[in-house]
Amino acid sequence: MARLSVIGTGYLGLTHAVCMASVGHTVVALDIDEAKIAALHNGVIPFHEPGLAQMLVEQLDSGRLAFTTSWQHVADNADIHFLCVGTPQLQGSHAADMSQVFGAVESLAPLLTSPCVVVGKSTVPVGTAQSLADKIISLAPAGQSAHLVWNPEFLREGFAIKDTLHPDRIVLGVQHDVDVDALKDVYETSLEGGTPLVVTDYPTAELVKVAANAFLATKISFINAFADLADTVGADVTTLADAIGHDTRIGRRFLNAGVGFGGGCLPKDIRALQARATELGLAEQFAFLTHVDAINKSRRSRVVDMATDALGGSVSGKDITVLGAAFKPDSDDVRDSPALDIAVTLAGLGANVTVHDPEALHNVRALHPMLSTDDDVLVALANADLVLHLTEWVEYRELDPAVVGSIVNQRIVIDGRNMLDRESWSAAGWQVTYLGKPGSQAAL
Ligand code: UDX
Repeated sequence: MARLSVIGTGYLGLTHAVCMASVGHTVVALDIDEAKIAALHNGVIPFHEPGLAQMLVEQLDSGRLAFTTSWQHVADNADIHFLCVGTPQLQGSHAADMSQVFGAVESLAPLLTSPCVVVGKSTVPVGTAQSLADKIISLAPAGQSAHLVWNPEFLREGFAIKDTLHPDRIVLGVQHDVDVDALKDVYETSLEGGTPLVVTDYPTAELVKVAANAFLATKISFINAFADLADTVGADVTTLADAIGHDTRIGRRFLNAGVGFGGGCLPKDIRALQARATELGLAEQFAFLTHVDAINKSRRSRVVDMATDALGGSVSGKDITVLGAAFKPDSDDVRDSPALDIAVTLAGLGANVTVHDPEALHNVRALHPMLSTDDDVLVALANADLVLHLTEWVEYRELDPAVVGSIVNQRIVIDGRNMLDRESWSAAGWQVTYLGKPGSQAAL
């Protein structure tokens, strides 16, 4: 079994550290945030990811997983170092902020005195891996025997453990003919389970990640454009998605129309890809991503307009309950969340907005203290003039429309995820409005 380090303990790094310990490796995970490391050391994780808290405690108990803030400790106790720090969008630009990635390498490399592998997992602009490899060789006392491998991650929040232990593929980008045996050993369990392995060069490995996310984002905006067309002509976008999805060349997944994509990856990754392509003189080829982004953002204003129409032309002074704040279910992540964005906009227009979410309210309160929140969904729904269903948590689909109908002020719901059962909600006297389904909304 290998001695690993993981640099950065966000969604990616923490999940990777815990999962690698669970398959038998010895793992030390580093973060520069001392409070976070102290909490992790005590088995407390700062975000919601199904199954991860329990697995963290199990792996701490196994003695194979430890946390530190010491770069020297990491260099002394691992032979393979995974870079899992964030690459958020730069303020005032579409490009990625690479300071954490370069900062991590500048801290670690001077301490690498013996042969080792540095493995990049963060999502980066193409060309970064080569710069990092050069930097490592120039800074590390181990010189040429400190190799860089590029190994993009594809984990989805809510499925992070499964996606780490049983990914759809493992991609390893290497320089020249450097062998990847050490990484094959690290991922032996997944590879033996049949996970395909793609060994390639640095730029291809870097591009696999951004190409995958650009494709997924495009698929969502594609179906959302058709949702608007469906609204205009009285067609049903869900049936349309089902029908085209039967074609295995297209596939049904990522064709759910609604308020669009959010989160810490898809929005910033398509912007960073476009920024990098533009730098490389390919602005025209990647201009389509401007439309993908614009269609996605327009979903949010569309719901605000629908809410305004449903309330007779103004939301000011009206009680609106927003079901969901996380960018998707089974996550407490509110980064670039369509649901939260809509809630904040409506509050800005003078509505009395109450937000419910099963997991994300602590983040809502920290970021938007002026928004009302309630942990009890029925309390949040009481006296609402309008209900917006914006994150498709299972518990919202399990609400009894008759019970909810008895406590609201008006039985009007806009389903921004096209998931509520029309028959039962209509039968309970609700006016249900979807995005791209007939009989639910006046033409655009
Ligand atoms: C994504 C990629 O899926 C993952 O491979 C990558 O490594 C990180 O980014 P994640 O951000 O966790 O993962 O969420 P994902 O499940 O991809 O959903 C992204 C957004 O798209 C969510 O806001 C979701 O609600 C939305 N979505 C997804 C749709 O609007 N319609 C769909 O059909 C699918």
